Amino acid sequence: MGAGPALEPETVVAMLDGPAGAYVHIPFCSRICPFCPYNKVVPRGEQPSRYFTALTREIGELLDAGVAGTDGFTSVYVGGGTPTLFPEDLAVLLALLPCSGERAVECLPTHATPPRLADLRRAGVTAVSIGAQSFHDEVLRVLRRPHDGATARAAVRAAVGRFPLVDVDLIVDVTIDDRLGGAFLADLAECLAMGVDQVSTYPLMRFGYTPFGQAHHERRREHEVLAEATRLADGLGYERRSVWTFNRVGTPTYTSITRRRFVGFGAGASSYLGRDFLVEHFGVQTYIDALAAGRLPVAHWLHLGALGGLGYDAFWQAYGGLISPSSLVGYQPWQRALPAVLVPLQLAGLLSREGTADQAQYRLTPRGFDRYHDLERWVTYQLIEPLWAQMLAEHAAEGNALAWADPGRARRGTAWRLAARLLERDEVTGTRGTSAARR
Ligand SMILES: C[S@@+](CC[C@H](N)C(=O)[O-])C[C@H]1O[C@@H](n2cnc3c(N)ncnc32)[C@H](O)[C@@H]1O
Ligand code: SF4
Repeated sequence: MGAGPALEPETVVAMLDGPAGAYVHIPFCSRICPFCPYNKVVPRGEQPSRYFTALTREIGELLDAGVAGTDGFTSVYVGGGTPTLFPEDLAVLLALLPCSGERAVECLPTHATPPRLADLRRAGVTAVSIGAQSFHDEVLRVLRRPHDGATARAAVRAAVGRFPLVDVDLIVDVTIDDRLGGAFLADLAECLAMGVDQVSTYPLMRFGYTPFGQAHHERRREHEVLAEATRLADGLGYERRSVWTFNRVGTPTYTSITRRRFVGFGAGASSYLGRDFLVEHFGVQTYIDALAAGRLPVAHWLHLGALGGLGYDAFWQAYGGLISPSSLVGYQPWQRALPAVLVPLQLAGLLSREGTADQAQYRLTPRGFDRYHDLERWVTYQLIEPLWAQMLAEHAAEGNALAWADPGRARRGTAWRLAARLLERDEVTGTRGTSAARR
């Protein structure tokens, strides 16, 4: 892979077709969990401070070009890695990002102590996601998490009521769960009893390049467990708000992925601009070097066009359980064809139609949720894993091979190679003159 297309901040802003949220990636963890596929390194020496300098520069370049419009970003989401590993730098970053909506941060349970949560609140954070995964020590041992169940429980208790929105991440893997006697449903019940606003129930994805490696999935058992979770949630005043989230009725949704448009900042961040999708360099040094050389750190630029953009939007609306074709504007001529494309899915019992003919909406049925769950796994393994494996190889190219990742063991992903061949913009790499000189 080359150093990436030489995109100007102004070009990025011109591609953005409406107000956007900001996603900021912090690629550092003090200990690596062997199941986790995300881009991160254990921090060494001065690298974190150089990283935050580069991140500040990237944000500044895009703000100068007008990326946040007049009202600021519609939301800010800081993920990782572990955003709470460097709390002072996090507070500085948050202050840089103008925002008219929620400010959300992923929080490691060991960092979610009352004083540190109070600091986050003072820094303007309105939503936190606590990475509990489970309250069962046996599950956390299998996942080799850096905390026990009591710490996860204390973190959730400390967060509930302190922020307008508290999400708790749980991991569900039916093989582990059946062996340990149904810990997942007990964990979910405990979250609901503690009054969390949203529980994200992520099925464990087994990326081939992680130490957990590839594994066969028991699809039917997964559908059953999620259906049981839905019944449990329904009985306690919660609803299935998306394929993998349960929300207290009436609360807002916490999400990093289903924003209509988002602009990513940081090593491994991606942006969705309406018809274009950008992926930034994963190698932390490559990311820092690109910005120091006056280039945006973009490694891939996929042009989805109107059809791809419509497909992308409809896919993520479906994740939230409701497709509203009339809200997917700007994709002429394809958007008029969307209702016809949905007819076979209705006939297959995956969607039910509601509303008037010109404002029709399509709701996922329980069977639709099951099929979407399977589709999401396919997308993860066939599109995301090959892309991330390719990008993680940048760490080795920097002379900094990741002890936890072996990109050679990743799924090959014919779908990703095809998508890249069809959609990738192969712009000439170069140093930006104008913007670099401005700063
Ligand atoms: C970046 S981590 C959360 C923040 C923090 N680093 C932590 O671990 O608490 C985001 C979430 O991704 C989920 N996750 C990580 N690896 C996963 C995998 N292999 N499959 C499914 N979900 C995963 C976990 O639920 C985790 O809480
Ligand atoms: S799950 Fe969280 S703490 Fe563990 S490696 Fe992934 S990002 Fe880091």
